[in-house]
Amino acid sequence: MAKGSSAWMSFSRRSSLMKRADVAARAQKGTEMMLQDKVAVIYGAGGGIGGAVARAFAREGARLFVTGRHRAPVDSVAKDIDSAGGSAEAATIDALDEQAVDRHLQYVTDRAGRIDISVNAVGDPDTQVLGVPLVELDAGQFSLPITAYTTSYFLTARLAARRMVPNRSGVIMTVTTLHSRTGLPLVGGFGPAMAAKEALTRDLSAELAPQGIRVIGLRPQAMPETATIQHAFERRAKASGMTWEQFQGLFASRTHPRRLMTLEEMANMAAFIASDQASGMTGTTVNLTMGSLDD
Ligand SMILES: NC(=O)c1ccc[n+]([C@@H]2O[C@H](COP(=O)([O-])OP(=O)(O)OC[C@H]3O[C@@H](n4cnc5c(N)ncnc54)[C@H](OP(=O)(O)O)[C@@H]3O)[C@@H](O)[C@H]2O)c1
Repeated sequence: MAKGSSAWMSFSRRSSLMKRADVAARAQKGTEMMLQDKVAVIYGAGGGIGGAVARAFAREGARLFVTGRHRAPVDSVAKDIDSAGGSAEAATIDALDEQAVDRHLQYVTDRAGRIDISVNAVGDPDTQVLGVPLVELDAGQFSLPITAYTTSYFLTARLAARRMVPNRSGVIMTVTTLHSRTGLPLVGGFGPAMAAKEALTRDLSAELAPQGIRVIGLRPQAMPETATIQHAFERRAKASGMTWEQFQGLFASRTHPRRLMTLEEMANMAAFIASDQASGMTGTTVNLTMGSLDD
């Protein structure tokens, strides 16, 4: 086609019209919320991570069902979401109580018609073992985090998946830490628990992805805004005499940008992963350790 010919002019015009349509479509897409009308259930929503993820999902248009063992922190997250113009309903649910989880999911399905996203962000069942050497732990103390973390993840994932399979669509998510892949002292069975959860993410995905359900974990670095890290600091400081600044500096020095992630950064990533824009991602745990842990 010769440049300047009538065929070229017509091609060139069509091409420029297509580009404009493409830009307009993308601009339109940019204004769309990533999780518009998705129905999301969060376990451990009263915690630092669960609460931040719930707020980020709501900002992206999801309808939230937030749950936790104790009601007050979950109510507070739901209230924040409601007053920011979002939609959230709170419930008291122990994520280790199979019947309570099942009843609640039935309630969600009856009320919202379906479940699109399940996030298990439940925390440590017994932080008393932190700081105790492995050689001093008895078998029950050692295995408690392994049993509790994997069982609650298994139950919440399995019961959500049973409701997602008929729709051939859904996203199941959880949170782990770099203890899954690095030897760290004085954390009892926490490391094996995190490694087991990451293995369960892969296995759930291997079974569920053919049925349209993605299963993905997030592995963030320590976020100093959270009570979990402040609590860990208190214990570490007692043993080593570190200040809060030194403690954060130690963690930050292990990352490439020499700073720690914020809860908001982690939650934004969670929203992206839960969205259809991440449709090509399943069977993995996303490394959010900012370079402190190589893949
Ligand atoms: N904070 C960080 O910087 C960080 C970084 C990487 C990974 N993580 C991991 O991410 C997870 C969540 O961390 P987080 O900082 O958000 O912890 P968190 O603030 O302690 O929150 C954990 C939440 O889990 C709830 N929970 C515990 N057992 C439960 C159960 N059986 N059923 C329902 N809810 C239960 C707790 O509720 P109650 O208080 O009502 O019991 C609490 O609201 C932990 O596994 C943590 O190790 C944390």
